Amino acid sequence: MFNIVIFGAPGSGKGTQSERIIKEYGLHHISTGEVLRDHIARGTELGKIADSYISKGQLIPDELMIRVLAHYLEEHPEEIKEGVIFDGFPRTIPQAEALSELLERHNTKVHAVVGLEVDEEELVRRMILRGKDSGRADDNPETIKKRLDVYHKSTAPLRDYYTGKGQYHAIDGNGDLDRIFADIRASLDKARM
Ligand code: AP5
Ligand code: MG
Repeated sequence: MFNIVIFGAPGSGKGTQSERIIKEYGLHHISTGEVLRDHIARGTELGKIADSYISKGQLIPDELMIRVLAHYLEEHPEEIKEGVIFDGFPRTIPQAEALSELLERHNTKVHAVVGLEVDEEELVRRMILRGKDSGRADDNPETIKKRLDVYHKSTAPLRDYYTGKGQYHAIDGNGDLDRIFADIRASLDKARM
């Protein structure tokens, strides 16, 4: 198994680059944001709770989010066999600790964390642009600001956390999509050796 975390601020390109990574490495993509948006679309109980946080740009509480991820892994044993790209999880230190424990239970671990580092004005530009037709409840100027505040306060500390573990690979996430992917591939190929 080869497990990657794709890490970065809202709008940094986690989803976009994940599509390329899964093609190249045959990994299963888990975007916790997509999982939650799917529940919202289906009107489940979890979806109702998730909507109340997402539309305000807040994080779903750790305890609930960790249960959702654990459940997802249990429900998809075949899909995750070759490895997983975790997109949007972990977002807090407790989530990172929970992820290690969950993967240990599956006799595996996080092999690399790819951090997409993008200038703040560019993040806002991308999300405002996408908001014109994404239909996402959180792609509006007010919620974008809140998401970025939450990112800096709760999620950005994971950069140091994974750097301390020797797992963090910084990638310049500004600019050309192909160049960004080439940099990701170079980092991952090194991490796999
Ligand atoms: P989530 O769905 O994870 O959203 P996010 O982190 O805010 O990030 P985005 O999906 O908006 O951006 P991205 O990094 O995937 O970039 P993308 O490729 O789309 O989470 C949403 C919410 O769910 C959270 O706020 C929270 O409430 C909740 N949630 C999720 N996980 C949680 C967790 N673990 N704990 C608690 N709560 C959780 O690209 C963005 C745009 O830019 C696109 O339009 C794209 O086409 C464009 N683009 C990409 N790359 C480039 C480039 N190089 N140049 C120009 N444009 C580009
Ligand atoms: Mg995304």
